[in-house]
Amino acid sequence: MKTILAFALIFMTSPSFSQQKSFKPGAIWPDDNGVHINAHGGGILNFKGLYYWYGEHKIEGKKGNSAMVGVHCYSSKDLYNWKDEGIALKVSDDTSSLIKKGCVIERPKVIYNKKSKKFVMWFHHELKGKGYSAAMTGVAVSDKATGPYTWLKSVNPNSGTWPMNFTTEQKAMRFTEKLKDWSEEWKTAVKQGLFIQRDFTKGQMARDMTLYVDDNGKAYHINASEENLTLHISELNDDFTDFSGRYVTVAPAGHNEAPSLFKKDGKYFMITSGCTGWAPNAARLMSADSIMGEWSYLGNPCRGDKAEITYNSQSTFILQVPKKKGQFIFMADRWVPENAIDGRYIWLPIQFDAKGIPFLEWKDEWKY
Ligand code: GAL
Repeated sequence: MKTILAFALIFMTSPSFSQQKSFKPGAIWPDDNGVHINAHGGGILNFKGLYYWYGEHKIEGKKGNSAMVGVHCYSSKDLYNWKDEGIALKVSDDTSSLIKKGCVIERPKVIYNKKSKKFVMWFHHELKGKGYSAAMTGVAVSDKATGPYTWLKSVNPNSGTWPMNFTTEQKAMRFTEKLKDWSEEWKTAVKQGLFIQRDFTKGQMARDMTLYVDDNGKAYHINASEENLTLHISELNDDFTDFSGRYVTVAPAGHNEAPSLFKKDGKYFMITSGCTGWAPNAARLMSADSIMGEWSYLGNPCRGDKAEITYNSQSTFILQVPKKKGQFIFMADRWVPENAIDGRYIWLPIQFDAKGIPFLEWKDEWKY
């Protein structure tokens, strides 16, 4: 009897008991300890056969959206089962630090730099008690994928630099008239560079962000800028810890955030959302032949029920599954602002129509 009991116990507590064999979008997703994964607004790095998932560590309750802990990291061999690797970037207890506990750290992404052999993390950073006004991007590095990451700095990017796609007329423009927000004149002024001019010396705003490393090894920082009205795509320098000074504006006055990006057969695709805070809205698809544009708008990539609210989620990252050529996973967050830690993950396969245009459909459960 004792032996049977012992066997039963081992069986019930062994990791194989809780092995995940598929994706179940929106369900509780247990890690190796049986705890719901805590890596919101996340991104994935594939390094030497292992996947690393980095995301915002949220806590219970309404305050859960501020950074009380830091950036959480998990590792996996198969993308279904995730091992808790702990906190990769910790918030600071030093009250004079910009990354002190209670600041905002959102949408962390990590890339690997082959030359420096460092793992480089960038994240949207807001200062404690300042709401979303700082609009900075922070950078941290580590010798190990799982951390600990050392925070280097947070900046408003591209100060004193014009976007590469700005004309001589745009650079010469001066905006003196006070225009009514959302009026046609105001939208035109935004497209002409109203906010680029305003923030030219201080550096541009950087909110929702992602990173993308191209086949030639160049890395890009893609973020919502200009009061969330215009996206900026900026090239990073050789060691990925700074901006190179080359950047473009994308979809000026288009009000996009939550950028996520992938490349298939030489074409770049970007999926973004509109700007409605934690509430979901319709996703937007864009494509380009070069990462620096021109980008063209292709509509909402979602099909079927709840397509107009991205199945109640907001994009965060697009992962290429290396072993499966042409398989891309759309990763999104179903935010729960009143109890942030309960946010759910919506991972869906990117499908392609006859013309090669990506689209998404809801799946209760699926495998890659
Ligand atoms: C969303 C954004 C999130 C977070 C939130 C705060 O629009 O995508 O990352 O910043 O707003 O309200």
